Order: sequence, then C-alpha cells, then structure tokens
Amino acid sequence: MHPNLSPSSFVIPAIIFLLSHHFPNFVCSDEFHYSNCNSPVDCGGLGKIEYPFWVNGAQPDYCGHPRFKLGCLHGNFPTIQIMHRDYLVIDIDNDTQILKMMAIFHEFSCSGFNITMDSTLFSYTPDVEIATVFYDCSSIDPHPGSYNFSCVINSFPNDAYLVTNTSTASEFASECNFNASFPVVVPKSADGVKEILREGFKVKWTVNKTECDECVGSGGRCGYNTTLDQPCCFCPDNPYRNKCPNLRSSMYPSSLSMLFRL
Ligand SMILES: *[C@@H]1O[C@H](CO)[C@@H](O)[C@H](O)[C@H]1NC(C)=O
Ligand SMILES: *[C@@H]1O[C@H](CO)[C@@H](O)[C@H](O)[C@H]1NC(C)=O
Ligand SMILES: *[C@@H]1O[C@H](CO)[C@@H](O)[C@H](O)[C@H]1NC(C)=O
Ligand SMILES: *[C@@H]1O[C@H](CO)[C@@H](O)[C@H](O)[C@H]1NC(C)=O
Ligand SMILES: *[C@@H]1O[C@H](CO)[C@@H](O)[C@H](O)[C@H]1NC(C)=O
Ligand SMILES: *[C@@H]1O[C@H](CO)[C@@H](O)[C@H](O)[C@H]1NC(C)=O
Ligand SMILES: *[C@@H]1O[C@H](CO)[C@@H](O)[C@H](O)[C@H]1NC(C)=O
Repeated sequence: MHPNLSPSSFVIPAIIFLLSHHFPNFVCSDEFHYSNCNSPVDCGGLGKIEYPFWVNGAQPDYCGHPRFKLGCLHGNFPTIQIMHRDYLVIDIDNDTQILKMMAIFHEFSCSGFNITMDSTLFSYTPDVEIATVFYDCSSIDPHPGSYNFSCVINSFPNDAYLVTNTSTASEFASECNFNASFPVVVPKSADGVKEILREGFKVKWTVNKTECDECVGSGGRCGYNTTLDQPCCFCPDNPYRNKCPNLRSSMYPSSLSMLFRL
C-alpha cells in the first residue's frame, strides 16, 4: 500500500492522538454530572447526604432518586415529602438503609395524624407500631395503652386518643367518629403524645443498593437518569448505566492492539 512509510511513522501520530483526546478527558476535567454530584452536601448536621438522597436546591436532580428528594428548610432542617406529606428527617443510616423521621404538622389538625407510607419504597422497621388515633369521640374513660391529647378540627380543639393496644382500640371505635393510622415508636417512659411524636419513627428504604455499590466500587457516583427514569452511574469520563468501565484494562489493550495492527 504505502511501502515508503515505516510502521513507526504511524505510531507517533497515534500516541499524539491518544494524549490529546483520551488522556486529558479523564485526568484534567471530570465530566460535569460526576463532579456536580461528587461534592458532599449537608443539611442540619445530618452528615454527608448520599444517593439515593439528594438535596433540592443544593444539587442537580440527577444526583439522586426522584422520590428521595430532600428539602433543607431554613437551611437547617432536612425534610422529605412522602405521599404528599412532609416529614422532618432526623437521621439517615447509609449502611442499614434506615431513615428516621418525624411528622411535621403545619397546623395540629386531627386529620394530620393519618400517615400512609409509600410501600414500594419504604417498609417500617420492626420496632414501629401502627397506632390508631381516634378523634371526634363521645366521652371516654381513661384506658391503658391510650394517650389523650388535643388536636384541631375546623380551627377548634378536639379531644383525641392515640391508642397502641388493639383490644383498647376496639372500645374506642364504638365511641369515635374517626380513626387514622399513625406509626410510632413508643419510648420507654412516654408521658404523652408529645414524647411519642418527638421520638418519630423509622423506615427502611428498599432501593437496590447492590447496583449503587457496584457503581461506587468502580469509581463512580450513583445518580439518576430522569429521561430514562432509571438509576445510572456517573464516572469521571461519562455517565454509564451500571458502573464505570475499567479504564486500564479496557482502554489500553485496545490502544495497544491498534498500535500493533499498524
Ligand atoms: C454510604 O454507602 C456507600 C455505598 O454503600 C459507601 O461507599 C459510602 O462510604 C457510605 N457513606 C457513609 C457516610 O457511610
Ligand atoms: C388527658 O386526660 C387527663 C385526665 O382526663 C386530663 O387531666 C388532661 O388534661 C388530658 N390531656 C390533654 C392533653 O388533653
Ligand atoms: C390492652 O388492654 C387490655 C384492657 O383494655 C389489657 O388487659 C391488656 O393487658 C392490654 N395489653 C397491653 C399489651 O398493654
Ligand atoms: C376505623 O374506622 C373504620 C370506619 O370508618 C372502621 O371500619 C374500622 O374498623 C376502624 N378501625 C379501628 C381500628 O377502630
Ligand atoms: C387516611 O388516609 C387515607 C389515605 O389517604 C384515606 O383514605 C382515609 O380516608 C384517611 N382517614 C382519615 C380519618 O382521615
Ligand atoms: C439489584 O441489582 C443487581 C445488579 O443490577 C441485581 O443483580 C439484583 O437482582 C437487583 N436486586 C433487586 C432486588 O432488584
Ligand atoms: C439519559 O439517557 C439519555 C438517553 O440515553 C441520554 O441522552 C442522556 O444523556 C442521559 N442523561 C444522563 C444524565 O445520563
């Protein structure tokens, strides 16, 4: 073909091509998804917030799962919305995948004691009890395993009862017009509903962790492709579906074989 050109005259341009195209791409400037999601974000001393969580306003939406969007109220209070209800995030345990939170009451309304979790994403931890909150009741004597308090119906205070004992609950059912489900972890020495509310409750999130571990293990940062509506892996050079390609074993052999072919 070109008998007057020696193989080495191809090798040098090939090396220059590699240096100018591939090399600086992953050494000097990290891909923007990767660098934007790689800087740690905190809110209210929660510690480093990581995938699937992300902080709205502090990070782009692709840094986390869309259903794990955190707000940072007054720059200090991490919040999450689940089934249109707001919760104050007390703790996120990355290793056990347990989220501890507390219901936020915008007005201390009785109907606010009705909590439904998104069962596709969260399951209650074994120490959580589902209490029944009764309100709009006729007169009721004190019962064991029930906590009386006052909540608001149409701007008026109303007697209400938080009941954890199921046999007690059936007695309340006949005296009250409304009941709602409310997850609690009753502290050892709970004097009343205030202490129970302050304790909050815990859920385990069920997003696939194996997938994210694989991405992190390959040097990537877990993220979400909102267009495809699926998790992805942001790597220093590019976003990928699952994990970062092993640059040393995938790039260099192909470059070398390219050199040897010449
Ligand atoms: C959270 O989990 C990821 C992957 O499982 C791990 O790489 C990371 O170090 C953990 N972060 C903290 C703060 O424990
Ligand atoms: C709870 O019931 C007791 C006894 O009936 C009463 O003294 C107390 O004020 C009630 N507490 C609330 C918050 O309504
Ligand atoms: C539930 O209440 C009943 C009486 O209303 C009582 O006999 C029983 O011991 C209570 N159970 C618990 C677990 O508190
Ligand atoms: C709650 O109220 C509904 C009817 O509104 C009733 O069917 C149900 O048994 C009640 N639950 C409890 C625990 O009392
Ligand atoms: C509690 O919430 C569920 C689901 O949102 C709803 O169907 C039910 O009527 C509510 N109950 C009360 C007492 O507000
Ligand atoms: C989680 O993802 C891994 C890797 O993609 C897969 O092998 C596993 O089956 C998934 N588990 C669940 C519960 O989806
Ligand atoms: C999401 O996927 C689409 C289609 O494959 C792609 O064009 C886009 O760049 C991806 N976005 C991210 C953030 O990975």
